[in-house]
Amino acid sequence: MNLFLHTLFVAISTSTLVTGRGWEFVTNGTSGILALEAIIVSPTLAIFFDFSGTGGPLQINGHSAWGALWNLETNQATALDVVSDTFCASGGLLSNGTMVSVGGIGLTGTTAIDGRMGLRIFEPCSSPDGEGCTLFDNPDLVHLAETRWYPSSLRVFDGSLMIVGGSHTATTFYNMDPANSFEFFPSKDGGTPRPSAFLERSLTANLFPRVLALPDGKIFMVANNQSIIYDIEADTETILPDLPNGVRATNPFDGTITLLPLSPPLYIPEVLVCGGTNTSDLIPSLNLSSQDPASDQCSRITLTPAGIKKGWEVERMLEGRMMPEMTLLPTGQVLIINGAQTGYAAFSSVGVLQGNSNADHAAFTPSLYDPTAPLGHRISNKGLPTTDIARLYHSSVSLTPSGNILIAGSNPNANVNETVKFLTEFRVQYLNPPYFSLPRPTLSDVPAKIVFNSKFTVRVTFSAHIAAFSVVKVALMDLGYSSHAFHSSSRLVWLEAKLSSDRKTLEISSPPNNRVYPPGPGYIYLTVGDTTSVGTHVMVGSGASPPVPDQGRKI
Ligand SMILES: *[C@@H]1O[C@H](CO)[C@@H](O)[C@H](O)[C@H]1NC(C)=O
Ligand SMILES: *[C@@H]1O[C@H](CO)[C@@H](O)[C@H](O)[C@H]1NC(C)=O
Ligand SMILES: *[C@@H]1O[C@H](CO)[C@@H](O)[C@H](O)[C@H]1NC(C)=O
Ligand SMILES: *[C@@H]1O[C@H](CO)[C@@H](O)[C@H](O)[C@H]1NC(C)=O
Ligand SMILES: *[C@@H]1O[C@H](CO)[C@@H](O)[C@H](O)[C@H]1NC(C)=O
Ligand SMILES: *[C@@H]1O[C@H](CO)[C@@H](O)[C@H](O)[C@H]1NC(C)=O
Repeated sequence: MNLFLHTLFVAISTSTLVTGRGWEFVTNGTSGILALEAIIVSPTLAIFFDFSGTGGPLQINGHSAWGALWNLETNQATALDVVSDTFCASGGLLSNGTMVSVGGIGLTGTTAIDGRMGLRIFEPCSSPDGEGCTLFDNPDLVHLAETRWYPSSLRVFDGSLMIVGGSHTATTFYNMDPANSFEFFPSKDGGTPRPSAFLERSLTANLFPRVLALPDGKIFMVANNQSIIYDIEADTETILPDLPNGVRATNPFDGTITLLPLSPPLYIPEVLVCGGTNTSDLIPSLNLSSQDPASDQCSRITLTPAGIKKGWEVERMLEGRMMPEMTLLPTGQVLIINGAQTGYAAFSSVGVLQGNSNADHAAFTPSLYDPTAPLGHRISNKGLPTTDIARLYHSSVSLTPSGNILIAGSNPNANVNETVKFLTEFRVQYLNPPYFSLPRPTLSDVPAKIVFNSKFTVRVTFSAHIAAFSVVKVALMDLGYSSHAFHSSSRLVWLEAKLSSDRKTLEISSPPNNRVYPPGPGYIYLTVGDTTSVGTHVMVGSGASPPVPDQGRKI
């Protein structure tokens, strides 16, 4: 056990056993648009984005909306006025809390304007129901340097977004018109994109590259079956070992990836890649089948010189998964959810379809991955419920501020189709963890803004059923941006915390610097024993607009 996990030695006078309902799926509300991308933008609101041509029921200005604010308290969607097409975009939050949606598509005959250079700006919204909060979307004024469909976006150490790869134009399956470059928002290098040899080498299954911000500020990337570390400041790449056993993990062979929770004092980065396929990317899509088995492989690597030398460590999920998504939980576990047990991402492009879907055999039962368990004992679905709602291509998932998991979308069809096996899914679901039906600890007096390398004190309460000797853990989390089986910018940094002897206050140490936690919004969750508090929204760093200078102390 890590030193920072302070054990409670104060006995509690009464200790009653409380049993909750365990993990459960709850369906509540409809998204109105197809929720193919999702991001939490405030304690009460998420934004969903869709394709302008889907034709969902939610209307705006006399046409179907393709953006919506999802109210996490009322479970209702409100249309957001989006001008350019957000189909297969990505995005993230900047150091000043502003959400930016990046890239998209440009097709004729839709209500949208060309979104391929889109940079859509949603300023921090303090109104709980989103009243008065709007999206700025004017590609004539603010736009990317290159057209990008299927790019990835990641908040980096100076609070900017790094924008990676994509395709210049719409393609049906493989990346046939690649944007093999990186750029930034706000722009660097006078706005000139940086060519990427890595993206060139990883063609043609390299859409939505999986990119992670490491605690030293460098960027880890997986595309196809290859991986590198990219140094933004030096513009150099270091080639790392390929994913083992021929597994490929980026679109249209979507596996998923996460940075495992980072612990003080060293914040040693470990990466987990799960699912995808070992199918060769040289096979024409028409020769592929929705019945081809997906990969059950999870590969993990420690990004230290010794860890890289050791290479990827392989373990197996309980089933193959194409298009799974991994969500970090405030407990430090990783939820593996959604996707299909056979086939590929995208729709109407392989030789043997299921309806219009390139994938079949939906994975209906999530699994939990425990990063601290020994190899071979990390993955389990014990106690996890099974749903009957398939979440395949164009679905999204996010941890919410209240600590449950929002699940929406799925549409392996070109538009709204209710007659196929995998129909257009508007039902919104939550997966509630066991702590949702137990008395939960609370956090209060949390400062709205937290500077790096500092200490702050918060008030805490936890209920009488919490046993003595329970472990107290404080997680600082970025809830990330969900698009195409990748949860970009998602992060959990454990914060050192010391409980006062009267057990009423907790002294918490902030992350040491802006590379361990890229400056910007986050949520702080307190876990005591087996219960977790609601997350409290904080601004980590100065809250200034990017690029921000280095802050805190070096590690
Ligand atoms: C759905 O959400 C609403 C708003 O939070 C709530 O009032 C209602 O009880 C929920 N319904 C179910 C079935 O959970
Ligand atoms: C990765 O894929 C390339 C072809 O795309 C192949 O040449 C190489 O052997 C693969 N690596 C592994 C470890 O399978
Ligand atoms: C793809 O299928 C065609 C038609 O069945 C066949 O001629 C061709 O050899 C196949 N190509 C590959 C790479 O499997
Ligand atoms: C490819 O993946 C499938 C499905 O997981 C598996 O059955 C097969 O053994 C794998 N092939 C290789 C060469 O690893
Ligand atoms: C739904 O998909 C099926 C199978 O491709 C197709 O025959 C049907 O026309 C589609 N319906 C709509 C409304 O697009
Ligand atoms: C945040 O920074 C971005 C990029 O400079 C800018 O467009 C946006 O208006 C800023 N938002 C706030 C609230 O300062």
